[in-house]
Amino acid sequence: MKRIATIAEMKAACRRVTRNGKTLGFVPTMGALHEGHLSLVHASKARCDVTAVSIFVNPLQFGPAEDLNKYPRTMERDTALLEQLGADLLFTPGVEEMYPTGAQTYVLVEGLSDKLDGASRPGHFRGVATVVAKLFEIVRPDFAFFGQKDAAQAAVLRKLVNDLDMDVEVVVCPIVREKDGLAMSSRNAYLTSEQRQQATVLYRSLLRVQAAVDHGERDSAKLIEIGKHVIANEAGAKLDYFAIVDLDTLDPVVDVSHCALVAVAAYVGSTRLIDNVLITASSR
Ligand code: PAF
Repeated sequence: MKRIATIAEMKAACRRVTRNGKTLGFVPTMGALHEGHLSLVHASKARCDVTAVSIFVNPLQFGPAEDLNKYPRTMERDTALLEQLGADLLFTPGVEEMYPTGAQTYVLVEGLSDKLDGASRPGHFRGVATVVAKLFEIVRPDFAFFGQKDAAQAAVLRKLVNDLDMDVEVVVCPIVREKDGLAMSSRNAYLTSEQRQQATVLYRSLLRVQAAVDHGERDSAKLIEIGKHVIANEAGAKLDYFAIVDLDTLDPVVDVSHCALVAVAAYVGSTRLIDNVLITASSR
């Protein structure tokens, strides 16, 4: 695996791949890799000739009161894991490389960026869309792999690629869970052992909603009440949002007769966690 820190070198390495007629897969990350990220690398390797990964903790997507400084940074361990998995290129730019002094251009997917996590984290999706647009221009991948856990992010990025006619296919891979159902996240590292137990409430709330759907409930308002009730019963958790929305527009749906995304965000201690399930005709 070749590790590259400059944009010029990364562009040259990626262009060599595509000029040689090989397909290039790309897995953008902020590091602190877990099984969820690794599943994206596996998916890229299965589908593409060459796999590039980036590790960049993007300051632009963190609000002023958020965890930019304490965000876990485990570069040596991450590099070893990616090497073991057989990633080909690792891009690890510094902040000044990505945002040189004087940079003034941002990418905003209007509307979508204010929904779900965007409503709770103003500016977050502008930061995500800006860095991903830059990374896509540097790498110019054929396929880019993201996790379904960040469902709102996936919707924003699908729209970005569509609206800007980018030649990349966004591939969204299933959520990877711990044995007890907790969705894998770099932020799980913040949890104490007691909070780690409490954090399972997110998935439990989603399972309860899924069970109600399986028993015939279709009314989103009722399903949301069921989910909220489960969160409210966990003393260690504080709800941010519980929503049932369209997968692409992120607009609320009144009933779940068609495909719907059930999404939850909650604080466990000061750690904000998210999770979701997709309800489809076949899951009933
Ligand atoms: O999902 C993430 O880890 C980040 O939001 C991403 C897509 C790498 C952009 O910084």
